[in-house]
Amino acid sequence: MFTVKEIKANVAEEMATFEVKFKESMKSDVALLDKITHYIIKRKGKQMRPMFVFLTAKAINGKVEEASYTAASLIELSHTASLVHDDVVDDANERRGVFSVNALWKNKIAVLVGDYLLAQGLLVSVKTSQFTLLKIVSDAVKAMAEGELLQIEKARRLDITEEVYYDIIRQKTASLIASCCAAGAASVSSDEALIEKMKKFGELVGMAFQIKDDIFDYGDSEKIGKPTGNDIRERKMTLPLIYALNNGSSAVKKTLINIVKNHNETPKKVKIAIQHVIESGGVKYAYDRMIELKEEALLLLDDLAESDAKKALIGLVEYTVYRDK
Ligand code: IPE
Ligand code: IPE
Ligand code: MG
Ligand code: MG
Repeated sequence: MFTVKEIKANVAEEMATFEVKFKESMKSDVALLDKITHYIIKRKGKQMRPMFVFLTAKAINGKVEEASYTAASLIELSHTASLVHDDVVDDANERRGVFSVNALWKNKIAVLVGDYLLAQGLLVSVKTSQFTLLKIVSDAVKAMAEGELLQIEKARRLDITEEVYYDIIRQKTASLIASCCAAGAASVSSDEALIEKMKKFGELVGMAFQIKDDIFDYGDSEKIGKPTGNDIRERKMTLPLIYALNNGSSAVKKTLINIVKNHNETPKKVKIAIQHVIESGGVKYAYDRMIELKEEALLLLDDLAESDAKKALIGLVEYTVYRDK
């Protein structure tokens, strides 16, 4: 398997240039805002989205263009904004191994910081008149909000099916990764069919990505740098739980529903629910679905000419499902 280092090596120069531009786009004259954006930048994430942009562009064109950088900045800013907002929505106090923005500065500040990042992202593309890019990413950001709201609606009613779960993750997560690959392709090519195909590729990878994240929530918090068990606490019915509810014994089903409904705020009970989900094969099932989606995604790369960039892109897809944080 590729390590992140090996994948990054293929786009090391591009990532270094990106880093400078990304930091620049976060600057503000308001001292409080500047302090918070510095705090966010200090603990950068895996930066998988810019890597998807650059590797898609390079796998198609052999090199990236100026427009690829704009795409990477816009998307990573939108992603960062969505995380800052998501931790308010999920009432989570940890992100990337440190306190979340809402935990340190309170919800109202986190909401405004998220808005600021989102607006800065949009401005990056307006400044360079990249309206196709703006359309691709705005569609994704809209879908993300819809996906999160659909998820909240389902958490209230506890009536989610596997199909609706896929709709949710397609919207809240896969849409942005799809936009990485679509925008990466659009930054170097005007072949509509190719851009559409890369978008579909990103969507499948993005769904696998979120299933991986949902599996993490049934694991160890220390290892991934954000709280686990949070999904049950928030009554989020993700694939492992959905499977257990549909396939567990009636006793398991009853216990799970009771915990999610009535004891979701009691850590001890949440632990019991997690155990039941694992024992019912829910995590295993989610893992298998994730691998299927990954394989389906990789098939879409078959027609791309062989190159180091293509190899690294495949490596990044593999990393999406085999990563440990
Ligand atoms: C976390 O995304 C949010 C999800 C869509 C699951 P990442 O796991 O890419 O977060 P960072 O940027 O690496 O912290
Ligand atoms: C993904 O869902 C959130 C976004 C798309 C912003 P989660 O709520 O599961 O993400 P984490 O686990 O907090 O990173
Ligand atoms: Mg969350
Ligand atoms: Mg999660």
